[in-house]
Formats: sequence, structure tokens, C-alpha cells
Amino acid sequence: MIRLGRHGKGTIRAVNCTLKGLVLAGGKGSRLRPLTATGAKQLVPVANKPVLFYALEQLVDAEVTEIGIITGDTADQVMDAVGDGSAFGASVTYLPQPAPLGLAHAIITAESWLGDSPFCMFLGDNFLGGGIESYTARFRDQPCAAQILLRRVDDASSLGVAVLDPDGRVLRLVEKPREPISDLAVIGVYYFGPEIHQITPALVPSARGELEITDAIQALIDAGLEVRAQTVADDWIDTGKKDDMLEANRLILGSLQRRVEGHVDTESTLIGPVVVESGASITGSTVRGPAVIGAGTSVRDTYIGPFTAIGPDCELSGCEIEHSIVLERSIIRNVERRIADSLIGREVVVERSPLRPQAIRLLLGDHSRVDVV
Ligand code: G1P
Repeated sequence: MIRLGRHGKGTIRAVNCTLKGLVLAGGKGSRLRPLTATGAKQLVPVANKPVLFYALEQLVDAEVTEIGIITGDTADQVMDAVGDGSAFGASVTYLPQPAPLGLAHAIITAESWLGDSPFCMFLGDNFLGGGIESYTARFRDQPCAAQILLRRVDDASSLGVAVLDPDGRVLRLVEKPREPISDLAVIGVYYFGPEIHQITPALVPSARGELEITDAIQALIDAGLEVRAQTVADDWIDTGKKDDMLEANRLILGSLQRRVEGHVDTESTLIGPVVVESGASITGSTVRGPAVIGAGTSVRDTYIGPFTAIGPDCELSGCEIEHSIVLERSIIRNVERRIADSLIGREVVVERSPLRPQAIRLLLGDHSRVDVV
């Protein structure tokens, strides 16, 4: 039995205290290995910016500036990247989660920091195209126990889903349903009032050993509290897998404006929206945007095609690449075949070898994937 405590059923009023932000940057990132074997999945860059930064920026745009970040094994990297939050116009507090025991467990971890404040919980690997200003304003104006965002998807089997009644009220939430019961996926941006803290102690781990946020929201519904759902049409990507990262990259690069701060020689052609960061150099090459070339990167005798983000301090020569993400300090040299739909990590070398016998020689981390033709 859930106690409703001081707010009581149906008596939630406009909350005057600050709406805090709770950003989740723990977790294992197992679907992005080997990229995330040692690095945080939330720091994998999309259009040369860590996916986590978009969440922080969108919270600040929605005037949520007091932000707690839940960290796990990769806490040091997250802290290095985000610092005290001032670069984002936010004040950031780090909240270490002892083990990745689920999204509802993250709320328990943050409980004393959150206090009585209502909050927006934003999963640091989720990318939401249109930002969160309007949803945040609605929650501020009309507080409720929980406000969730839903998005129609083709396959919801790896997500939380919501079943609504004909009036749009949430009847039921199910985590990763085996049978297709709804095409309305629960997006990783949630709004909660303090009532959630009365729910979390009673949760039990799911089959995957986690305290599920869907169970917590279901318990709010069962307790008769208001759970509001908004179905959104914005682009939304849970960037957990390679193709999702490429899709997010494609979306962000789709609105790129041309900016050339690096050096482009007269033998090179830039077509469409291309960003060449300062210290980058393009020689004898064609770059067809949208594409971004990171600071200090050298591109020589190369074709870079649309929807490609090359990170800083890379070296590309004698190659063709499109619809791909390359992270910092990687080298691609003299590869005859065009590279496409690829996610290449940090300090990777992909090179045509003059050595005989002519063979494909690989040194790949666990869970790597190579498609050869
Ligand atoms: C989590 C939630 C799920 C939600 C998804 C959004 O899934 O449990 O309900 O739909 O985030 O990204 P997970 O990433 O833990 O598989």
C-alpha cells in the first residue's frame, strides 16, 4: 500500500520551489561497445558534441539550471567534461550511484539532493529534437505527480510503453513488452513531483534486476495520482546503438550552417553546409555537407560525404567517407573503398597496408563489428 503523505490524493498545487534537473549519466552502454568499454556512452559525440551536452543545454534553455548528474563507473570522465556546469549556465552537483540498479534507483540516489523539489529527469543518452521548453512550461503551470512524454515508434519492444484510454489518460505502463501492446514509447524525459519519493521505497527489482521507472509511474497511477502523458511528434533518439548515433548525427547536421575557420586550399571544394573548425586543414579534397571537420584535423586527397562528423585531431588522406562519425585522433589512410554508415572510435587507425600477403589484418576490441566487401 502506498501512502500519499502530505500532499494527499488530488491536492497537488502549483509548486513554487525550483524545478530541478536530474540527468542520468551512469549505466554501462553495453550496446555501444567497444566504444563504451572504457568511456561513458553519454559522452560519445553527435555532430562533434557529446550527446549529454544536448540534454544539459535543453534543460538550461527551459530555465532548469540546478542540475544533479547521476554518475557511475565513468564519473571522472563525466566530471571532466561537464565541470561545475558554469559553461552551460547551470550549477551541477554530482550524485554517484553505487551500482546501475535502474532509473527509479537513480531517483532514490538523488532523493536527499532533490528534497521536496519537483524535477525533470533527463536520460543523458536520449536526444530530443525540439527541446523541452514547452513540456517544462506545462509542468510548471499545471503540476502533477508525473508528466511523461510519449512518441509513436515502429518497434517498442526494447522500450517502456504506455497504454492510454480513449481520452488520452494513462492506463498502464509496461517495460519492454514481449507482445506489442502499444506503439507509444516512453521518452527518456520525465517530470515528477515529490510524491515519487513515497513510491520508490516499495519498488522491487524487475527481471533484469533494476528498479524500473515504468513501475514507479504505474504505482503513482495505482495510487490515484495524476500522471499526465503528452504525445510528441519531435524527433527522438535513444542513442544506445550505432545506427541510432548515426541517425542523431544526421538530424543535428541537417540544420548545420556553414562556418569555415580552418584552412581550405584552392584545390579543395566545399559544397553546402560544411563546418571546418579552426586549425583544421583541407587539401585537394571535396567535402559535401552537411559535414563537420574538427579542430586540428587534416584532410588530404579525400572525399567527405554528407552527414559525416570528423572529430578533432584526426588525419584522413586518400579515402572516401560518408554518413559516419569519427572520434578524435583517428587516422584513415589510403582506403580505396568508400567508408559509410560507420562509427569509428578514438585513436583508431584504418589503413591500406602495403605488406604482403595482402590480407585484412585486424586488431579489434571485444564486441567490435567489421563488414567487409
Ligand atoms: C529506459 C526506460 C524505458 C524508456 C527508455 C527511453 O530504457 O526503462 O522505459 O523507454 O529508457 O530511452 P533502458 O535504456 O534502460 O533500456
